[in-house]
Amino acid sequence: MIRQYDQCFVLETAHSSYILRILPTKQLEHLYYGKKLTITSCQDIVPLIEQHAFAPGNTNIYDEEHPEYSLEDMRLEVGTIGKGDIRVPFVEIIHDDGSSTNDFLYHDAKINTTRTPINTLPYATNNQEELEITLVDEAYDVTLKLYYNVYDKYDMITRRAVLINNNKNAIRLNRLMSTQLDFSTHDFVLTTFNGSWTDEMNRHDYVVESGLHINASFTGSSSSRANPFVMLSNKHTSEDAGEVYGLNLIYSGNHYEAVEVSSYGKMRFVSGINPQNFSFLLAQGEQFESPEAVMCYSDRGFNDMSQHMHKFINDCIVRGSWQHQERPILLNSWEANYFKINEQKLIKQAKAAKKVGIELFVMDDGWFGKRDNDQSSLGDWQYDPKKLPHGLKHLVDKINAIGLDFGIWVEPEMVNVDSNLYRSHPNWTIAIPGHGQSEGRHQRILDLCNPEVVDYLTKVMSKLFESADIKYVKWDMNRTFSDIYSPYLPSDKQQEVFHRYIIGLYKLLDNLTKAFPDILFEGCASGGNRFDLGMLCFMPQIWASDNTDALCRARIQKNYSYGYPLSVISNHVSSTLNHQTLRTTPLNTRYNVACFGILGYEINLADLSNEALEEITKQIAAYKVHRKTFQFGTFYRVNQVLHNWCVVSDDQKDAMGMLLQELVLPHHQYHQFIARGLKEDSHYHFFNEAKQYNVKLFGDLINTASPVHIKQDSLAHQVVAKFVKMPGEVEDIHTTGSVLMQGVGLKQAFSANGYNENVRYFQDFASRLYFIEEESEMK
Ligand code: DGJ
Repeated sequence: MIRQYDQCFVLETAHSSYILRILPTKQLEHLYYGKKLTITSCQDIVPLIEQHAFAPGNTNIYDEEHPEYSLEDMRLEVGTIGKGDIRVPFVEIIHDDGSSTNDFLYHDAKINTTRTPINTLPYATNNQEELEITLVDEAYDVTLKLYYNVYDKYDMITRRAVLINNNKNAIRLNRLMSTQLDFSTHDFVLTTFNGSWTDEMNRHDYVVESGLHINASFTGSSSSRANPFVMLSNKHTSEDAGEVYGLNLIYSGNHYEAVEVSSYGKMRFVSGINPQNFSFLLAQGEQFESPEAVMCYSDRGFNDMSQHMHKFINDCIVRGSWQHQERPILLNSWEANYFKINEQKLIKQAKAAKKVGIELFVMDDGWFGKRDNDQSSLGDWQYDPKKLPHGLKHLVDKINAIGLDFGIWVEPEMVNVDSNLYRSHPNWTIAIPGHGQSEGRHQRILDLCNPEVVDYLTKVMSKLFESADIKYVKWDMNRTFSDIYSPYLPSDKQQEVFHRYIIGLYKLLDNLTKAFPDILFEGCASGGNRFDLGMLCFMPQIWASDNTDALCRARIQKNYSYGYPLSVISNHVSSTLNHQTLRTTPLNTRYNVACFGILGYEINLADLSNEALEEITKQIAAYKVHRKTFQFGTFYRVNQVLHNWCVVSDDQKDAMGMLLQELVLPHHQYHQFIARGLKEDSHYHFFNEAKQYNVKLFGDLINTASPVHIKQDSLAHQVVAKFVKMPGEVEDIHTTGSVLMQGVGLKQAFSANGYNENVRYFQDFASRLYFIEEESEMK
C-alpha cells in the first residue's frame, strides 16, 4: 500500500513501513524504514522527523533561509555532490561546463497501479503499486526519476532510478545507484558473502563503526568474489529473532554496496552498479536506467527474512514455464569424464543413470569442435564427429530411447582464439585492437555490446537447440573481464562496456528464453561466479559451485540460503575422493547435503559398486517423494555447529531435517536434532532411514568381537564384510510439533565404549537425514 499525506509518502508491506518526505528545501528526506507503523495522518509522522534547529559544526548550509539544514547531516533519499552532502553519493554527473555539482529537487509524484517497465534490464514481476517521484536539477536541465515498488505479502520494497538528460549538451553519468537508505544511527552489522572459484559464499560480519565499507565486484559479473546479496542487522540478531534488512540487486554485472558512517554517527547504505570504470555519455533526450534493488525488512531474525526473500524470488523473479515446477534429477557428465567423452561412454553412463532413477542426462563440456582440452573450439558449436560419430541428434535419440531427457552444456559468451569463429571475426571480442591481451582459461569474451554478435549468438544457439530434443541447457561463463574494450563502441563510450555487455547478455537470454520457453536453463559461471537475481529472471536454477565436497557444500549452500531459495540452488553428488579437496565423505552425507535444493549426480555411475548403486537408487526414490519440499519448502537454518537444517512443506505436514558433523569431539555424543516450522499442537512421526553398516567401517575394532584375529583388508576381512553387517541406529518417535521444535535427543553417538543398534555410527563428516510426518492421532 502506498499513501501520500501532504508532503510525506508512506509505503507499507505486511510487516514493514518505508516513509519519506519532501523537505522545505525540496530535497527528499528519508524518515523511516523498519517495523510496520500505524500511520493515519501527517500528524502521526511528525515524531519521525529529526528536529533540526541549527546545522552542526562547520557544515555547509544549503539555503540561508533554513539554517537548520546541512545536507551533510540529513537523512536523504538521494545523496548528491556539491551542495553540502559529502557522503557516498547516489548520483554523480559531470556536466558540459565541467562541474559535478547536482541539486535534484522535488518536482512531482504519482502512484501507479501497474509498474513502469525497465527497457534494458530485467525486473521483478507481480508488483502491486508503484510510487514514481520526479526530481529535477533545473540549473542543468536533468531529471531524476525514482521508482518504488511495494510487494505486500513478501515484505519487499524495490527501488530504482532513471536519469534523463534534457540539456542540449551531453552529460557524463559517472554513477547512478539503485537504492539509498539513510539511518539515524549506525548500530548495525554488515554481512557480506565473499569468496572465489570453488570457495563461494563465505559469510563475513562487520560491526559498522566508522568510515566506508564497500562490497563490490569488478569481474564483469556479479561474481563469486562478493555476491550482491548483503544484510544489515543488529548485533544480537539471530536466526530466529531480531532486526535484519536483506538487500540485493537484480543485476549480473559489476555491483557496489557501500555502508558509510558519517561524522555525526548516521549511517548510509547505497547499492547499484559499481561506479568503477563506469561512465555513460548521455546526449540530449537520452536516459539511463539503473537496475532494480530489492529490500526486505524483518524483525523476526535471519530465517524470516530469508523465507520472505525465497518466496519473492520464487514468485516474482523466476518466471516462465519452470517457475513453480519441480526440477528434474540429472546426471552431469563433467567430473566423470571431463573432456574425454564419446557416444559409447555417454550411453553406458546414461543406462546406469536410468537404472538408479535419474531423469535427465546432461552432456557437459567437450562435445563440440575439437574440444579435447580448454584451449580450443569455444565458438564452434558443431558436434565433434570423432566423439559423436553419428551426430548429436542420434545421441539424443538414443538417450531418449533409454528413457532419459537430454541436456547440453554451452558457453556462448566465449570464444577461443583457436576457433573458426575467432578466425572469421577477430574483432568480435572484448579486446584492445593491436594490444597484447590477458587471457583467462585460454578464452576471450565475445563483445555483447555489439548487436551483431548478439544476433549471431541468438541464431547459432537457436539452431543448436532446435537440432535435437534438448530439454535442458547448462549456460556456462568461465572468465572474468580484462582488456576492457569494445571494438564496436567509439572511444568516448569505452567506460560503458561493462554495463552494455550485461544489456547485450540480457537481450540474448531474452531472445532464447522466449524462443525456447520449455527448455530448463541452468546458469553457471565457473560455479557461482554469476549467482544473482538478474540471471534468475532468465534461468530458474544456478550451479552453485564447482566445489562438490559435501563439507564445503554445506557451508556454501547454507550461505546462499540467506538470500536465495533452495529451488534455485543446483547441487550434485560426486565421487570420493572429492576432486576439489581430495576429501573422503560418506555417500549418504554427499546426498544429504545435495538434496536440500535441486539434486543431481556428477559421478561415473558405470564404475560404482552395486552397494553404492543400491544406495543411490534409494536416495533418488526418497528424493522423488519429497522433492517438492526439498525444492520449494520453507527452509530453516537451526544450528550452525552441527549444520542442523530443516525444510518444511507448505502445509506443514511433511518436513526433513539434516545434521552434519564436521569433526568428532570425543564424548560429545548426546546430540539433538531441532525441528522448525511445524504445527505446535499437531502430532508427528519422527524417524530416520535404518541403515546397515559394512563391518569394514569399524576397521580392526572387529577383533574386539571376533573369536579369531582378522587382519585389516585381508581376504578374511573381505569375506566377513560380505556376510556381517552392523545395524545402524533407529530413531522412531511420536510426539508433538512443539516437542520436536524443542529438540529430539538422538541415540548416543559412538564414543569408544561399545557399539550396538542403540549407538549412532557418527564419524567425521557423518550426517543424518530425518523425516517428520504429521499424524492424525497420537500413537
Ligand atoms: C565450469 C563449470 O562450472 C563446470 O561445471 C564445467 O561445466 C566446466 N566449466 C566445463 O568446462
